[in-house]
Amino acid sequence: MTEIGRSIDFVIGAFVCLLLSCRGSYGLQSDVNCLRALKDSLEDPFNYLSSSWNFNNATEGFLCTFTGIECWHPDENKVLNIHLSNMGLKGEFPRGLQNCSALTGLDLSNNKLYGNILSDISKIVPLVTSLDLSSNNFSGEIPKDLANCSYLNVLKLDSNQLTGQIPAEIGLLDRIKVFSVTNNRLTGPLPTFSNRTFSAESYANNPGLCGVPLPSCRAPSKKTHLGVIAGAAVGGMIIAAFGVGIGMSLYLRRVSKIKKDDDPEGNKWAKSIKGAKHIKAS
Ligand SMILES: *[C@@H]1O[C@H](CO)[C@@H](O)[C@H](O)[C@H]1NC(C)=O
Ligand SMILES: *[C@@H]1O[C@H](CO)[C@@H](O)[C@H](O)[C@H]1NC(C)=O
Ligand SMILES: *[C@@H]1O[C@H](CO)[C@@H](O)[C@H](O)[C@H]1NC(C)=O
Ligand SMILES: *[C@@H]1O[C@H](CO)[C@@H](O)[C@H](O)[C@H]1NC(C)=O
Ligand SMILES: *[C@@H]1O[C@H](CO)[C@@H](O)[C@H](O)[C@H]1NC(C)=O
Repeated sequence: MTEIGRSIDFVIGAFVCLLLSCRGSYGLQSDVNCLRALKDSLEDPFNYLSSSWNFNNATEGFLCTFTGIECWHPDENKVLNIHLSNMGLKGEFPRGLQNCSALTGLDLSNNKLYGNILSDISKIVPLVTSLDLSSNNFSGEIPKDLANCSYLNVLKLDSNQLTGQIPAEIGLLDRIKVFSVTNNRLTGPLPTFSNRTFSAESYANNPGLCGVPLPSCRAPSKKTHLGVIAGAAVGGMIIAAFGVGIGMSLYLRRVSKIKKDDDPEGNKWAKSIKGAKHIKAS
């Protein structure tokens, strides 16, 4: 019974491991490689990392004591969140993060990071629920591959040098609750989120964003085109009204003539025609 139970446990365990691509000792080494690569790829002028991130005494869970590192379990080298905000760090988006394969939160805000946000970012941080790259110097376009980070709840890209359009695919992020791209150089139409909208605050201080809740997107050439059409329509209506007016007065004159001839006592008709003429003249 216990034998069977144990082997069932083992099978289930192995299966779950397979599903989660269980890391075991290899995985522990993977997260060590991740943080080592992260440290090596960033300039750290205030020694936040070099004073705390010491890889020489590699015990189980030693990563979890590093500044800014939070693990799934304090005694296991499996990184849950990385918070390296406001440390003066300099460099490009660290590709080495790919080896922190269970990472769910990344906060690199308020540093001096530059270059593009990686176009295959969903391969680097596929499980992130929170990504904060705000107040750096990232440039280029927002990669549409961010839409493949489908667990994102919080996405903060404000105060960078991002250009181009916000990819429409971003609207596919259906768990998103916090979204900000303020203070960039973005242009073009806003994405449409499947079941929510963000206020104008999320988009403020970009030169060319448009669409609800911002002013609507309308190319200036289209505007003049519309103006011409409207002008032509109004002109046409005035001419038509003139035509109808002239036609009507001729018709009424004829009618009055006929009626006078037909009806010698045509008081009623004469009165009504006078009335109509009077109204038209005024
Ligand atoms: C390594 O760290 C552990 C706990 O942090 C400590 O007990 C041990 O003495 C350290 N070993 C070395 C060689 O520094
Ligand atoms: C991840 O770690 C492996 C070594 O385990 C290394 O060969 C690989 O280059 C690392 N990946 C990245 C993106 O740094
Ligand atoms: C940001 O990057 C631009 C070039 O993309 C550069 O001219 C500027 O000096 C950078 N600003 C900071 C604060 O690093
Ligand atoms: C998401 O990933 C799939 C497969 O890699 C790709 O075909 C698709 O274009 C990606 N979606 C976005 C929005 O990048
Ligand atoms: C958004 O849509 C998803 C699936 O389309 C749904 O699970 C979720 O509850 C919705 N959220 C809100 C706030 O309506």
